[in-house]
Amino acid sequence: MDDLLALAVDVATEAAELVRRRRREGVEVAATKSSPVDVVTEVDRASERLIFERLMAARPGDGFLGEEGASAESTSGVVWVVDPIDGTVNFLYGLPHYAVSIAAAVDGEPVAGVVVNVQTGECFTATRGGGAFLDGVPLRVGDDGDRPLGQRLVATGFNYVSRIKVLQTTAVSALLHEVRDIRRMGAAALDLCSVAAGRVDAYVEEGLNAWDVAAGGLVATEAGARLETRAGVGGTDCWLCAPEAGFEAFADLVGRAGFLRPEGPTSGGE
Ligand code: IPD
Repeated sequence: MDDLLALAVDVATEAAELVRRRRREGVEVAATKSSPVDVVTEVDRASERLIFERLMAARPGDGFLGEEGASAESTSGVVWVVDPIDGTVNFLYGLPHYAVSIAAAVDGEPVAGVVVNVQTGECFTATRGGGAFLDGVPLRVGDDGDRPLGQRLVATGFNYVSRIKVLQTTAVSALLHEVRDIRRMGAAALDLCSVAAGRVDAYVEEGLNAWDVAAGGLVATEAGARLETRAGVGGTDCWLCAPEAGFEAFADLVGRAGFLRPEGPTSGGE
């Protein structure tokens, strides 16, 4: 796992440099995906190409699942799950909050992961059972995770598909009355790392993809957070992440606010 992580860190750092340089040169939308506001730029593609080439050259038998479509079957048992730019809309607008996210998974479970914030250079890492780190310093969620709900700061995000976004808007509006405040920062991998670092108290979002969650989710759980999926009101998985101590109260609130399908939990997460 340490070797997988070391490789992931090298490649993510190189990809982050590429993304930073190309941002300075100017960025345009290259295509749209699930909806007109779900964009991809040439830089997302270039970053994914670089990551694919480096990882496949170093470990030819590994599989690959990338947000922008790069893929390879695994013969080694390891699959790399990659978001070449998480926070693409922030990247497009020059908001300095987007990341390169790379995880190595075995049997569908992330075992090593890195999330590099392209503009700040912060590097979040984790290996399964080996803990989570920010720039080499151990990360641990605070022990005040069970503080009153009204004093918790909650990160969330919205789906690109407007049918789901409408339902999320209603739920977020109900949640907002019950918590300290809401943050919509625009990069799910960094939201999960923010739970790990105690920068927010909890995170909830329906409709994430594997590449949004793989590395950041491992960072969060290795820092002591609990990460679970429940059946979301929009019909896809809703991800909840919070320190173990305050998780159940947060999950109840998320259900009451309307993020979840009324029949409740259907699947356990990590
Ligand atoms: C998106 C971001 C955003 C989240 C979306 C994701 P992308 O990833 O993480 O914060 O709300 O659900 O799809 O498209 O920028 O890689």
